[in-house]
Amino acid sequence: MTRVGLVGAGGMGNVHARQYAKMPDVELRFYELDPERAKAYAERWQVQPSESVDGLMTWCDAVDVCLPTDLHLDLGLEAIAAGKALLMEKPAARTFEDACGLAKAAEDAAVPYMPAQVVRFFPEFAKGHDLVESGAVGRAATARTHRGGGAPSGAGGWFMDHTRSGGILLDLAIHDFDWLRWTLGEVTAVNGRSVAAKKGIGPDYALTTFSFDSGAIAHVESTWMDPSGFRTAFEVCGSEGMIEFDSRRATTLRTSQPDKTASEAPLSSTDDPYYRQIRAFIDTVQAGTTPPVSGWDGAMAVSIALAALESAKTGQTVAPKRP
Ligand SMILES: NC(=O)c1ccc[n+]([C@@H]2O[C@H](COP(=O)([O-])OP(=O)(O)OC[C@H]3O[C@@H](n4cnc5c(N)ncnc54)[C@H](O)[C@@H]3O)[C@@H](O)[C@H]2O)c1
Repeated sequence: MTRVGLVGAGGMGNVHARQYAKMPDVELRFYELDPERAKAYAERWQVQPSESVDGLMTWCDAVDVCLPTDLHLDLGLEAIAAGKALLMEKPAARTFEDACGLAKAAEDAAVPYMPAQVVRFFPEFAKGHDLVESGAVGRAATARTHRGGGAPSGAGGWFMDHTRSGGILLDLAIHDFDWLRWTLGEVTAVNGRSVAAKKGIGPDYALTTFSFDSGAIAHVESTWMDPSGFRTAFEVCGSEGMIEFDSRRATTLRTSQPDKTASEAPLSSTDDPYYRQIRAFIDTVQAGTTPPVSGWDGAMAVSIALAALESAKTGQTVAPKRP
């Protein structure tokens, strides 16, 4: 049995609890600052609340951080110092230096640490990565991605305060930045434009273009201004072909009745990307092996996002920092 102590019973805390509930070899407890949220969460998931982070930390084998982004660093360092395996919601930290600090501390302490870059665990994005890596499109030359929907708010509205969340580039586009780096290699230069980056507050729409060390180029479209619902898409073109995915066209099974159309993907509950991600983390904790996403991967995703943010603010081309 692996004992997981989750901190932050908000949006992602609930998504994670849904996955732990499917794992008979995991016991979950949690700490949440807001008493009403804590009560609702304990009842919904039938899990025991802890009175304090310290109490949770003493009890658990692994810590799962689902706090607002600007609170990741301190708890992450505390978990590592206590020798607890660490699953950290993305972005790993609010700054590149903090994200590197977490990666280095975990490495020095030989503690398993995994930033939750969940897009690597979406079956279509994972398959797309594997296909590109295996040469299905030949030499990859271009890529484009789209991600977004309506603006999130979070407890107290922290997402729309970019000093806390990093805005759309650090909070949302980071998913595509990580997938592109994982799939096409290191990024040489970034050029960004955004509606709200300079203001640092509120919903945003951003366009980011990249050059990679390999010579490939890419662009990422990110929106918190799409009222029609969440959508993701990617396309990779190379010397031998093209791969494309659009979440609105992914459906293979559709039932239509006079008053509604229902769509289902042919996936089982264990194909849920959040399940696959958390299961991969728990498996490495149990087996004493290395998590599939490293602390340095998390730090590089933060680096690219912050380069895009700086470019969107200054209009200049920016090279992402490397550790
Ligand atoms: N992987 C994804 O798809 C995805 C999606 C959304 C958010 N996220 C990330 O997950 C993290 C959490 O986002 P969220 O949407 O769950 O936010 P949220 O605001 O819904 O939840 C955060 C929770 O933490 C609690 N909290 C705040 N300070 C606390 C403290 N000091 N101690 C204990 N609890 C505290 C809040 O009361 C709230 O319940 C963020 O880093 C965000 O970027 C990831």
